[in-house]
Amino acid sequence: MILAPDVTMTTGHTMHESDLFSEPAALVEAALTKAIEAANLPAHLREAADWGVLGGGKRLRPTLMLMSCRAVGGTIETSIPAAVALELTHCFSLIHDDLPALDNDALRRGQPTLHVKAGEAMAILAGDLMISLAFQQLTQLPVEPSIACSLVSELAGGTTSMVIGQTYDTLGGLPGSLEPREQLQLVHRNKTGALLRAACRMGGFCGNADESSMECLTAYGDAVGLMFQVVDDLLDVTQTAEHIGKATNKDHDMGKLTYPGLLGVEESRRVVKELEQRAIDALEPLGPEADPLRDLGRFMAIRTK
Ligand code: IPE
Ligand code: IPE
Ligand code: MG
Ligand code: MG
Ligand code: MG
Repeated sequence: MILAPDVTMTTGHTMHESDLFSEPAALVEAALTKAIEAANLPAHLREAADWGVLGGGKRLRPTLMLMSCRAVGGTIETSIPAAVALELTHCFSLIHDDLPALDNDALRRGQPTLHVKAGEAMAILAGDLMISLAFQQLTQLPVEPSIACSLVSELAGGTTSMVIGQTYDTLGGLPGSLEPREQLQLVHRNKTGALLRAACRMGGFCGNADESSMECLTAYGDAVGLMFQVVDDLLDVTQTAEHIGKATNKDHDMGKLTYPGLLGVEESRRVVKELEQRAIDALEPLGPEADPLRDLGRFMAIRTK
């Protein structure tokens, strides 16, 4: 999949970002297809699941997970069911995020959103399905039960945070004692940062990371997780719907609390740079095994879709 600009790699050469994603994304796409097939669904639900999950996503969270696993010496194959679980959860979050009661969006990944295609009831139910398929995947990992338990806890915690963040974003209720900038961080860390952080930590669990490596992955995940939503907010005001495959210039009209809305575009770009550096610094102790994660962090700062 061709996404956007070239990334100057840690190793010094320039590599198109499609190379960064293509192998993990292909592995995960195949595993996602299998997971939906194995669920033995009635035709209309199966069609909805295919529409909401397969084709078009950047598969960034699975890629983060596979690369985090590799960064601590694990083999990427070990983490594929966990990567599928997280991507299914992410797809559920997008389907419900687009519903009329939330962001009311008609375009996602360059296609009509699921509720536009199949109706609101089906979009709600297909989202529900994805959560249960996700946890089913975690029973299929070739890891010890204690690690499987950590993975379940991590995914459940990340999903709860995502729902909390979506609640703040949609219905307000933020603590009034916080400054506006702190409120903004609280929304973004929950609604988006938590699942990206979980991606990195779940990769660490799959790779049997020791405590200090897990701390590195957690700090990296915290930084890229927040950065991801700052960039998403920037794309809403700087890109076209055709390029990013979803509606633009919506956040302001919907009264959303965003980085460019509160701090302006230039200051938001500065925040992205700062978080990118924080992410790269966090990986320092992991050495060259973490180069793909470093490159991915750099790409996430400059992505244009
Ligand atoms: C979009 O996530 C939703 C946010 C958390 C901002 P992605 O930009 O990763 O969406 P896909 O999976 O590539 O479509
Ligand atoms: C959504 O944030 C985060 C989710 C939990 C899905 P946005 O509402 O900004 O995501 P997009 O812009 O619709 O992808
Ligand atoms: Mg939203
Ligand atoms: Mg949205
Ligand atoms: Mg957005």
